[in-house]
Amino acid sequence: MKVVAGMQQLFDIYFVSSNKHKFQEVKKILNSFGIQIGFFKSELEEIQSNSLKDIAIKKAQDAFSKCKKPLIIEDDGLFIDSLLGFPGPYSSYVFKTIGNGGILNLLKNNRRAKFVSIITFCDKHTLQSFDAKISGSISKSLKGKGWGYDPIFIPENYSQTFAQLSNKNQVSHRYKALKKFSKWYLRMQESNDQ
Ligand code: IMP
Repeated sequence: MKVVAGMQQLFDIYFVSSNKHKFQEVKKILNSFGIQIGFFKSELEEIQSNSLKDIAIKKAQDAFSKCKKPLIIEDDGLFIDSLLGFPGPYSSYVFKTIGNGGILNLLKNNRRAKFVSIITFCDKHTLQSFDAKISGSISKSLKGKGWGYDPIFIPENYSQTFAQLSNKNQVSHRYKALKKFSKWYLRMQESNDQ
């Protein structure tokens, strides 16, 4: 991180998103790996595709055209087994339309699901994605106050939803994808310094 006159901070890397909840989590997680990240708040183009990775790559390219600095973006999907992976790449649209209540109404006995995160890094020369997933299940009712699908997603080996857990940022799909990214990023920084 660099500090410049006028107290404005310049960061080596930015997280581009319109979602401040995601940024707060990304910032905490990356700080724990020794990476300082700035927030570049922007609505990004989200193409329709069955592939989260393709969506993430397009998002990253759109983000770079706006931010023009080394950056990461994130694309996530909630995949529900009994709905054959729905909402998956359409998770954002489904959350805005039927929401958590609509998802709960669609499910019966089989409540298994997974959350997937793709983190894509983009700068002038490099476009690199890191993915991770966390298995779990969908709760029978809304539990806890949290953003997005947090009140209905129970990670494997826990009995509480993401919204109820105090250690979400040490187990989540986002944590796992950012851990992979951090390893790669820190190694790249090290070799650039040599
Ligand atoms: P996006 O398209 O990457 O923004 O994410 C797809 C949907 O999943 C959005 O509705 C997000 O709010 C939701 N989402 C992504 N990550 C999480 C999370 O960690 N907890 C709860 N909801 C999430």
